[in-house]
Amino acid sequence: MQKHQELVSVLPNMENSPTQEEINRLDYLERVIKETLRLVPTVPFILRYADEDIKCDPYVFPVSSNLVVPLMLLHRDPEVWPEPEKFDPDRFLPDEVAKRHRCSYIPFSFGARNCIGLRFGMVEVKIMVATILRNFKVQTVGMKSWKDIQLGYMVMLKAKNSRLRFDKRKF
Ligand code: HEM
Repeated sequence: MQKHQELVSVLPNMENSPTQEEINRLDYLERVIKETLRLVPTVPFILRYADEDIKCDPYVFPVSSNLVVPLMLLHRDPEVWPEPEKFDPDRFLPDEVAKRHRCSYIPFSFGARNCIGLRFGMVEVKIMVATILRNFKVQTVGMKSWKDIQLGYMVMLKAKNSRLRFDKRKF
């Protein structure tokens, strides 16, 4: 089951807010959000300070280094992501996820200082996107591809030029 059919099937009544149980069943939408966070991670890089030498064969990052972990580049590594610029939510089917290293995709960071709002953030985005897409047909204006979106950086990534058209759905 793909795309809009999933929303209609899981959320037959447009008037009600989605329940937690319904949100859990929006598998395709979740893959779309994950693929979006792969290509355009809200936090495009994270910073760390090395309080000891860090061995990362064949390199060593010496103590006191400031390290930049570029999530956006990590998420577009062609050795991990075939055709990295292609938007393909099925990269997040369970069998595909199992083939990759767990740190190849870290939009919420990883380890001791990762995002404490990880689960809440995903649920929040799913509710918001599901509610909008269930009620409106949304189209970009004057764009052919997501690559036409100009990204601005202010700690978080923002779209600088996106124009959208909303048409109310009748059912
Ligand atoms: C899609 C939504 C979100 C994304 C992509 C996101 C991403 C991130 C990332 C990448 C970090 C790590 C920064 C670093 O390692 O330096 C982080 C940290 C954090 N996030 Fe989120 N976040 C999201 C939603 C939320 C929400 C909803 C909350 C709170 C309810 C939240 C609270 C935090 C806090 C408190 C930290 C700092 C954790 C620490 O330093 O120990 N985030 N987030």
